[in-house]
Amino acid sequence: MDARTKLTARDIVARKGGPKLTMLAAYDYPIARLIEAAGIELILVGDSLGMVVLGYDTPVPVTVDEVVYHCRAVVRGAPRTHVVADMPYLCFHLSDEQALANAGRLIQEGGADAVKLEGGRGIAARISRLVEAGIPVMGHIGLTPQLAGGSFGVQGQDVASALAIVADAQAVAEAGAYAIVVEAVPSELGWIATEAVHVPTIGIAAGPDCDGQTLVSTDLLGIESKLFLSFAKRYAELGPVIEAAFTAYVEDVRSGTFPGPEHSFAMPEETAQALRSALGSVSSEGGGDG
Ligand code: KIV
Repeated sequence: MDARTKLTARDIVARKGGPKLTMLAAYDYPIARLIEAAGIELILVGDSLGMVVLGYDTPVPVTVDEVVYHCRAVVRGAPRTHVVADMPYLCFHLSDEQALANAGRLIQEGGADAVKLEGGRGIAARISRLVEAGIPVMGHIGLTPQLAGGSFGVQGQDVASALAIVADAQAVAEAGAYAIVVEAVPSELGWIATEAVHVPTIGIAAGPDCDGQTLVSTDLLGIESKLFLSFAKRYAELGPVIEAAFTAYVEDVRSGTFPGPEHSFAMPEETAQALRSALGSVSSEGGGDG
């Protein structure tokens, strides 16, 4: 698959059991550009936004307006990447009408290609309604942070809860979701859930057997946030690098090392002279270094 061709929901379904799908959660234009340049196929404008970018303690306060705003930036940065917008807390639970209106905003105003809904059997009918209206829906089962009350532990660790997660996966797939995020379950259960559905699973802390993987981009980059997920693999340690750059900048400004001539605009000497004589009172020694 040419990484520069935007995948459709149908293309993503066709990847079941094929080459692994790659997705990252991201929230802004520059990171979206770099994700697209790296050939990652999906970007999730996750409600992790709340904890990673907006400084909330949980995803609960995130609004549809905030996801729309960040989604627009991501779409501008990654126009050839399949962008999924998270439906925030309680923005799809009240009625089909509420869900359709909010999903419609994320697609029309945010520019997303699809929406993601957290939940299993309890929201299957709602997913069907959105899909009937032509809105591609990604499911999200296992750990569902919107409903977790701030405790983000591993799910499905006993037979009953593992069976419930498999039933959730099947219900969401049968309702018409084109892919399902499976979060924070034992690897064995990630594999079982993947085998149980005809659409791709995209795992996050769900083992290697899912049809794809996702991470939160700031976790992968090593930028500490309120979210930081301990299971995330860090591919870089940018937090200390960024802090060191900021510290060096402060030192340079305070010591007068920055800005130097190479970071400043010079005025032609004759203009500078004419300016000085027009001002009269300004010393001919003063101003500029060019
Ligand atoms: O909000 C988010 O970033 C997510 C991922 C953790 C899957 O839902």
